Amino acid sequence: MTQMKEKIASLLPAWRERVVRLLKEHGDTEVGPVKISQFYNGMRGVKCLTTDISYLDPFEGIRFRGFTIPETLEKLPRAPGAEMPYVEGHLYLLLTGEIPTDDQVEEVNKDLQKRGKVPGYVWDTLRALPKDTHPMTMFSIAIMALQKESVFVKKYNEGMSKFDYWDPMYEDAMNLFAKLHTMAAFIYRYKYKDGDIIEPDFSMDYGKNFAHMMGVATPYDELSRLYFILHSDHESGNVSAHTTHLVASALSDCYYSLSAGLNGLAGPLHGLANQEVLRWIQDLMNKMGTETPTVEQMKKFVWDTLKSGQVIPGYGHAVLRKTDPRYAAQRDFSLKHLPDDPIFKVVSMLYDIVPPILEEQGKAKNPWPNVDAHSGVIQWHYGVTEYDFYTVMFGVGRAMGVLPNIIWDRALGQAIERPKSLTLDMLEEIAGIKK
Ligand SMILES: CC(C)(COP(=O)(O)OP(=O)(O)OC[C@H]1O[C@@H](n2cnc3c(N)ncnc32)[C@H](O)[C@@H]1OP(=O)(O)O)[C@@H](O)C(=O)NCCC(=O)NCCS
Repeated sequence: MTQMKEKIASLLPAWRERVVRLLKEHGDTEVGPVKISQFYNGMRGVKCLTTDISYLDPFEGIRFRGFTIPETLEKLPRAPGAEMPYVEGHLYLLLTGEIPTDDQVEEVNKDLQKRGKVPGYVWDTLRALPKDTHPMTMFSIAIMALQKESVFVKKYNEGMSKFDYWDPMYEDAMNLFAKLHTMAAFIYRYKYKDGDIIEPDFSMDYGKNFAHMMGVATPYDELSRLYFILHSDHESGNVSAHTTHLVASALSDCYYSLSAGLNGLAGPLHGLANQEVLRWIQDLMNKMGTETPTVEQMKKFVWDTLKSGQVIPGYGHAVLRKTDPRYAAQRDFSLKHLPDDPIFKVVSMLYDIVPPILEEQGKAKNPWPNVDAHSGVIQWHYGVTEYDFYTVMFGVGRAMGVLPNIIWDRALGQAIERPKSLTLDMLEEIAGIKK
């Protein structure tokens, strides 16, 4: 057993005791009311989920196991001379709550390498799809193709105690995460590079290997590490995390659960927004006929977008009420590595232009940029210009957050999800407006 798995096993009894005690002694304590508006506004703000892996503060942004993004990036171990920490170390942090030592990171790295080989039938499945299939569809199908490997299903069918569910869930999650970057890079090269596949090099760490398989030179390896870490987790109410949790709550294995979560990530209001941002910025540049539009031209474009009933992609957030620190981390990277990139310059100008306009329009509760406002421009800079693919990379990162969540769901015995629904008649009656 790896130190990471041992660590989880050693933490479990105390966590379980806390949950049992809380439920036994305070199971009837009320946390907060639910308003009628929340039935129709996507349950915004309803407090009914729990996770210890990350917490999203509206003003401070995400904390991974208590660490802010700058703290996470500073504290996690990195390769000698590397700018960004190992993805493997972040996985250790999310799973155990502790910053790993170099040795522990090395062990996770070796463990993932051992589990990393993708069976040939996954490639056959992908090759059988029409080439114009969206890469997110391909990614989800590749994950589903692997479902027959589920250790959880095998052990469940053999019969096992519910206290042990987390163990095969962990095995499945590690087996799956170990292959995601290879499957993502395969989809990229298969779809956009004439099928010129670059074999994985399992002597490399996760981020570096991904950059290698994508065929993009350094500092793309640094960017990949940063990208996967930043996109990993955003507490459990967002569509991809909640869907993964919901499907797993039916004791579906992590292949079914992650594939479902990523199908949610593929929506334009969620992960697909990063490709929408780039499309929108390029539309702006094309319409203005220049790489360096003026402030006035950009203001007009922003207003035109709003007046046509569309949202400004990359701006606003369901929870955050300030600039997303994931945006800020990518901005820091860009200032260092691509300060003169023309699209980066437009992205920077939009940072000054969009928020006052959204405030003036008065609809969006948060006028500030989110993670998606920045991720596409960096990819484009390094030649990854096929923006349909960006959400796939988001998905690799998101898996690193949602898989630990469902392991801990199993470990703490979270039940199958089953909220109650009411009819419009009933809500009108509660509101006192029913005849
Ligand atoms: C992220 C997002 C889906 C959050 O939605 P939300 O929680 O409903 O946001 P709000 O409560 O602030 O929405 C209130 C109103 O402002 C609008 N609004 C929010 N963000 C907006 C934006 N970026 N541009 C224009 N209008 C926006 C909403 O569409 C809504 O309008 P409506 O009352 O006519 O339906 C939303 O901000 C959005 O669509 N952003 C653009 C897409 C994006 O960047 N997604 C990635 C998120 S990480």
